[in-house]
Amino acid sequence: MSIRTMQSAEVKELLHKVAGFNKTGGNERAKQVVHRVMHDVFQIIEDLDITPEEFWQAVYYINELGQNSEASLLAPGLGMDKYLDIRLDAEDEQAGLSGGTPRTIEGPLYVAGAPQHHAFARMDDGTDSAAEVMILTGQILDQDGQPLANAVVDVWHADSKGGYSYFDRSQSEYNLRRRITTDEQGRYTARSIIPSGYGCPPEGPTQKLLNQLGRHGNRPAHIHFFISKPGYKHLTTQINLAGDEYTYDDFAFATRDELVVDAHRIEDPAEAASFGLAQPFTKVEFNIQLVPTERTELQTRHQRQRALESEVTESQPTTA
Ligand code: DHB
Ligand code: FE
Repeated sequence: MSIRTMQSAEVKELLHKVAGFNKTGGNERAKQVVHRVMHDVFQIIEDLDITPEEFWQAVYYINELGQNSEASLLAPGLGMDKYLDIRLDAEDEQAGLSGGTPRTIEGPLYVAGAPQHHAFARMDDGTDSAAEVMILTGQILDQDGQPLANAVVDVWHADSKGGYSYFDRSQSEYNLRRRITTDEQGRYTARSIIPSGYGCPPEGPTQKLLNQLGRHGNRPAHIHFFISKPGYKHLTTQINLAGDEYTYDDFAFATRDELVVDAHRIEDPAEAASFGLAQPFTKVEFNIQLVPTERTELQTRHQRQRALESEVTESQPTTA
């Protein structure tokens, strides 16, 4: 069947009215975007000969996504977050702001307002006794390798079951979420636990769609970072731990070669003692290079809806 109506005056007029082009009120940008989106949706229906059954399935699928608050989970799974990163990388290149540690997606599970510490923080609440102790440490540097003191390293990661505090209500408040300011050597250190990879809710609408594509909904074990310091470009990034089954098969497309980090098991009691530990642990080291910019709008994370973002004030910590 090839029914072609998109070029008809009737459809063109319909789209014109759908976007409010025949009305004076409203928002011009919204009209432009909605006109284009609805044009392209109509075009897809025509080109792929979408049946009414398929169409209504999609409409009720969107209802289900919203009911489960999974639109922001599906977006990375469909490569949209990665695509925005590709655009930002290209924009940086054009503006001469390339270099430094590469960005990768934020994901939907950040919570604003984590406790602030200087140089060192313990991130876990001590309840996950089966988990492997992790020491996460590194230096924040400029592009010449000079240490950057007082940079803010905002770190968050999942627990040993792949769950994130706040979204997983069984965890304590801000568990595995901390902000650490770097010391004079630009160093930050956290004691935490080795996270497990994350999997989409198995019965949810995101996984349902991925099943239709023959895809899994898993991420490798990973640790998220926001790094900021006045005078430097804000960096949103993550590290993926090497050796995970999904390190190079991340459903959210966040893996980049420069961001794959080895975790080292440390058995030496003297090194353990230097971190105040009486047991072997796993060390993860991640040094980060920031790119200088005077453009203040690039020095902070871009705006988007985030948990508790509007409730908390972003004050700088004073001392240890
Ligand atoms: C998703 C989950 C994550 O932990 C993450 O970092 C990125 C995406 C998600 O559920 O889509
Ligand atoms: Fe994550």
